Amino acid sequence: MNDLQKRIAEIGVVPVIKLNHPERDAAPLAEALIAGGVPVAEVTFRAAGAATAIRAMREGFPDMLVGAGTVLTEAQVDEAIAAGAQFIVTPGMDAELVAYCQARGIDVFPGCTTPTDYHTAYKLGLEVLKFFPAEQSGGLAKIKAMSAPFPMFKVMPTGGISLKNLADYIKNPVIAACGGSYMVTAELIDNGKWDEITTLCRQSVEIVKAARRA
Ligand code: 3PG
Repeated sequence: MNDLQKRIAEIGVVPVIKLNHPERDAAPLAEALIAGGVPVAEVTFRAAGAATAIRAMREGFPDMLVGAGTVLTEAQVDEAIAAGAQFIVTPGMDAELVAYCQARGIDVFPGCTTPTDYHTAYKLGLEVLKFFPAEQSGGLAKIKAMSAPFPMFKVMPTGGISLKNLADYIKNPVIAACGGSYMVTAELIDNGKWDEITTLCRQSVEIVKAARRA
């Protein structure tokens, strides 16, 4: 893993964020995440204004790691990089899009769940994959089965992760970090429940630490 990947792995969880009001919410949300010990965010292009949120977080909180999620096109890669994104996450394995990110010199974590996805990722020289949607694709059992022929990858499972199953995932050495929206739900963000977000982040970090100590 490179330095950025190691930093993400060290934190252990990656909040997957959809911001409907980036001008209003990006800064307090970043503060809440940092206060909870989770200075990383995957800001999804599912909401218009994702680039605005990425820019606000990068400019206001330079030590935070900010990536772009749900990236589907080269134009979105360009937009994310221009906004200051440090990594790109794609929901599926699109070899051309991955190669475009590599050519632009930005880390990319494509969503992979099948032997075909992993094989494509191997050919592209990737080391860290998003395993998405994790629970719905077979969860930890599938991740373990995939790492038999492909032991070279670390994965970031995302989809269906919560405080309940976080420890089980993190305990497995194949897992670099877990992604999730449970600590940054629309309900929490839209109602400005920043303290609750901080608490959920703190609880997540504690779970990660305890799971890795065990
Ligand atoms: C994603 O895009 O990574 C997922 O929607 C996050 O999944 P979750 O909402 O189940 O955490």
